[in-house]
Amino acid sequence: MAGPAPIVKRFREVYPSSGEPRVWRAPGRVNLIGEHTDYNLGRVLPMAIQLECAVATAAFDGNVLRVISDQLSRGAQWRIDDIPNLEPQGDWSDRVAGIAWELARRGVTIEPQNVLISSTVPLGGGLSSSAAFGVALALALGGARDPLELAQVARAAEMDFVGVPCGIMDQFVSTHGQAGAAILLDCRSFEFRPVKLPQEIAVVAANSMVKHDLGNSAYRRRVEECADAARLLGVASLREATADRLKELSGVPLKRARHVVTENIRVERFAAAAQRGDPEEMGRAMIESHRSLRDDYEVSCAELDFLVETALEVPGVFGARLTGGGFGGCTVNLVRREAVNGLEAALISSYRAAFGRTPEIHVCAASAGASQLI
Ligand code: GLA
Repeated sequence: MAGPAPIVKRFREVYPSSGEPRVWRAPGRVNLIGEHTDYNLGRVLPMAIQLECAVATAAFDGNVLRVISDQLSRGAQWRIDDIPNLEPQGDWSDRVAGIAWELARRGVTIEPQNVLISSTVPLGGGLSSSAAFGVALALALGGARDPLELAQVARAAEMDFVGVPCGIMDQFVSTHGQAGAAILLDCRSFEFRPVKLPQEIAVVAANSMVKHDLGNSAYRRRVEECADAARLLGVASLREATADRLKELSGVPLKRARHVVTENIRVERFAAAAQRGDPEEMGRAMIESHRSLRDDYEVSCAELDFLVETALEVPGVFGARLTGGGFGGCTVNLVRREAVNGLEAALISSYRAAFGRTPEIHVCAASAGASQLI
C-alpha cells in the first residue's frame, strides 16, 4: 500500500479550494481458482492484492457531488437532489453514479463533496478494477459499514445500475481480504475462511493486454445458460447439481454445468492441497480449471491459452490458468519464488514474438480488505 500521501497531494492540485480530504482504499483481486462459480452460488478462492483504488473526498459548499478519476482523466458531477432518480448513461460515470444511487436507495444521504479517485488496478485487466473502485467509493460516500453490506452495495450498483449480472466474489474479497492469505468463500452462505499458501510459492498475474468485446455479452449469456441448465436439472442453482446428474444433460447445458460442478470440486482440492503444502496438486487443479474454462465454459481466447501454455513449460511453475471473466485480462500462475524471474522473462519474450504486445507482470501480495487511510 502506497499510503495516502500521493492522493492527498493530487487532491490539493485538482481541488485547490477544498479542505483536507479523508482517504479510503479498496484492493483489486486475483482469483486463484473457482471461476464462474460465484453466480452459481458455488465456491471461489480469490486473494486481495496490493493493486488498489484510493478515494479522497472533502465536503464542499454547493449542492453537488463532484468526481474526478485520475486514471481516466475524466470528471463528472451530479446535483445531490437528482441522485435517487439517476439513469445510466452508458459510460464510465455510471460506475460512480451507481454507487451514489444505490446508497441513496438504502437511505444514505450523500453530502455535497469533491471526490478524487485514483487506482493502480489496470482497467479491464481481469484484476477487478471495477469492484475496487465501487467498494472504495461506497466506503467513502457511505461511511463505515459491515464488510458484507459494503460488498453488497458495490455489487448491487454493478447489477442494478450499470447492468452487469456479476457474482459477489470481487466485491467480497475487496472488503474481506487478509494480508498473507487467500479467501475461500462459499457464495451461497457467505461463510469464508483464510487459506494460507505454502511459503515457497509466489502468485504471479500476467496481463494479456487484450479485452475482447465479446466479453460482456458472453458473460451475460453464460449466466443465462447456467440458469437454463439448473432449470433442466430441477435445482435452484448449479451449486446443487452433482456429478452423477450430468448424464441427464447434453450439448451446451452439459458443458456449462460440467464446468461448474467440477470447478467447485477443484476449489476444495486446491484449498486442501494448500493446507498440507502440496503445490503440485494445487497446480494440477489450476491446469484442469483452465482446460475446463477453455473447452467446456468457452471463455478463453488465443492470448490466454498462449500465456498458460508458455508458463507451463517454465521450470518451477506448478500451474497456470485464466483468472476473472475471461476473453482477455490476466492469467494467474503458481510458481516457486526463485523461478519468478524466469517466468517473467519467458512470458514477455514469447508473448511479444507471438502477439506483438508486452504482457504486464504483477507478483501479487495477499492484502487486507478495504479500509480508511486517513
Ligand atoms: C467477473 C465477475 C465475477 C465472477 C468472475 C468469473 O470477475 O465480476 O463475479 O463471476 O467474472 O469467475
